[in-house]
Amino acid sequence: MTSEGVSMPDGPLIVGFGGSTGPMSMTSLLLERCLAHAVTRGARTLVLGGDELGTLPIYGADGEPPTPVATALVEAVREADCVVIATPGYHGGMSGLVKNALDHLEGLRDDPRPYLDGRAVGVIVSAAGWQAAGTALVSVRSAIHALRGWPTPFGVTVNSVEQPINDDGSFDQRVDGALEILAGQLVEFAGWRAAARAGVR
Ligand SMILES: Cc1cc2nc3c(=O)[nH]c(=O)nc-3n(C[C@H](O)[C@H](O)[C@H](O)COP(=O)(O)O)c2cc1C
Repeated sequence: MTSEGVSMPDGPLIVGFGGSTGPMSMTSLLLERCLAHAVTRGARTLVLGGDELGTLPIYGADGEPPTPVATALVEAVREADCVVIATPGYHGGMSGLVKNALDHLEGLRDDPRPYLDGRAVGVIVSAAGWQAAGTALVSVRSAIHALRGWPTPFGVTVNSVEQPINDDGSFDQRVDGALEILAGQLVEFAGWRAAARAGVR
């Protein structure tokens, strides 16, 4: 029996977080589009966007009780079968907003599946140049490894100068195709993991 034969009646849960603040964030729009492709493939999705993540306090383990958004982020990732992280390239790495959100995953440290353990994690980066797109992708993947996640083989890097959003809000066909491939890899991983846990070969 293949992984396709394993029943996930409600569909895998794919949680996306990241983007920038404001309605015109390219990274946020890329994240939403990727999750829409995942829904087409039968997934359930949940997103915490830049505006929500922007309300998070700087993580500092200062003993303050977690804010509602910090709790929502930790609970969403706890329930997630797979995760998508979207960031703009800032000075060659991920943005502080996204790194701070990742730091808040410290709330999963004592879980049976700590941090990003057992989850495929896709990465989307938009940057104004290819160099930062590549280095930011690597920076997020390094953090995913540190958090015990499984970076997907395929990452989506978009050059916001050469591949801008179309006037109707859609993306260049190659960008959209890349988001579709990423969504496919996440849903596929969730099926494989469900099959492995069910002891199906
Ligand atoms: C503080 C800051 C730093 C940035 N650093 C870089 C950079 O090092 N390299 C680059 O190519 N683009 C850089 N950019 C451009 C953004 O990565 C790019 O415009 C991105 O598409 C913005 O995504 P957003 O619309 O989701 O905010 C920077 C932008 C800001 C605001």
